Amino acid sequence: MNRREFMQYTGIAAVATSAPLAALAGEDRLLPARPIPGTDEMMPIIGLGNSSAFRADDLSVASKLLDIFLDHGGRYVDVGGSSAFSVGKLGREKNAAGKLFLGNYVDPKDKAAMREDIAALAKAQGKTMLDLVHTRNLREFRAQHDHYRALKEEGLVRFIGIARSGGEHHETIATLIEDGLVDFIQTNYSLLEPESADRLLPLASDNGVAVNINRPFINGDYFSVVRGQELPDWAAEFDCQSWAQFSLKFILAHSAVTCVLTETANPKHAIDNLGAGFGRLPDTDTQRRMLKHIRALIT
Ligand SMILES: NC(=O)c1ccc[n+]([C@@H]2O[C@H](COP(=O)([O-])OP(=O)(O)OC[C@H]3O[C@@H](n4cnc5c(N)ncnc54)[C@H](OP(=O)(O)O)[C@@H]3O)[C@@H](O)[C@H]2O)c1
Repeated sequence: MNRREFMQYTGIAAVATSAPLAALAGEDRLLPARPIPGTDEMMPIIGLGNSSAFRADDLSVASKLLDIFLDHGGRYVDVGGSSAFSVGKLGREKNAAGKLFLGNYVDPKDKAAMREDIAALAKAQGKTMLDLVHTRNLREFRAQHDHYRALKEEGLVRFIGIARSGGEHHETIATLIEDGLVDFIQTNYSLLEPESADRLLPLASDNGVAVNINRPFINGDYFSVVRGQELPDWAAEFDCQSWAQFSLKFILAHSAVTCVLTETANPKHAIDNLGAGFGRLPDTDTQRRMLKHIRALIT
């Protein structure tokens, strides 16, 4: 067990450091990580979303984002569409294919077509087994679950699951968890969309399902709410230095969360977002205070 894993297991990670990201050196600059339930594998708590830089094949920005991310021990990148290939290629070029954990979107189809997709992705990403294959299509994931399970049994894929945002899908995702069909779920949870904390996140935790959180900034709408507002003084009590970190630390304070996916095409924002992984996290009372504070800004 390395220092970061030791700190996570002993709970020290929550107070690991509050120094600005640039000031961190050596192992201190590596993100805290949480275990993928049911495994010994650790997942650093901040991930990258499907950035427009990856999707547009903007290799110079995409490369910068990945360098920053890898420098802080980041692993999870959500890769839909062409990102699965652009990020895969960059990962190979940086000799980082084994470090990255890529969340692939593979829709249900016939067995042969799915295997063709998987083979193309594995080649592009320099992997013998894909890390995670998931889909937005909740209904077909259940209907064709045998296909997904077979991908695991054949050693083509390590984890399977679903990725969807929107409260209207929470109940369907809950039944997939209850029926033992998913290793990972990806769902929305944030200050402006906190509903999944009521049932879905505790259910995932109780059933040993890993949770990736999407829409931490509601695709940018959160910044319209906080723009021009002073960060409250008490944000310093949990080592929060920006409004982005205010949202991310709220999310990470939920113990069911394995990793939060942050989308940006701006390297400065990537550094800001990674900073949320360090230092203290809010306790339950402070989370309530944060919700109240944000609601007051809306009304
Ligand atoms: N499977 C699904 O159904 C599903 C649905 C939604 C999302 N997702 C996944 O979740 C990821 C994140 O969700 P999202 O798309 O809703 O995006 P998001 O991460 O909630 O918000 C992205 C927006 O926030 C801005 N931003 C990011 N960091 C910032 C910072 N530190 N300061 C100021 N602005 C910042 C970005 O602009 P800049 O580029 O200028 O930084 C962008 O406009 C997606 O990329 C995707 O991988 C999946």
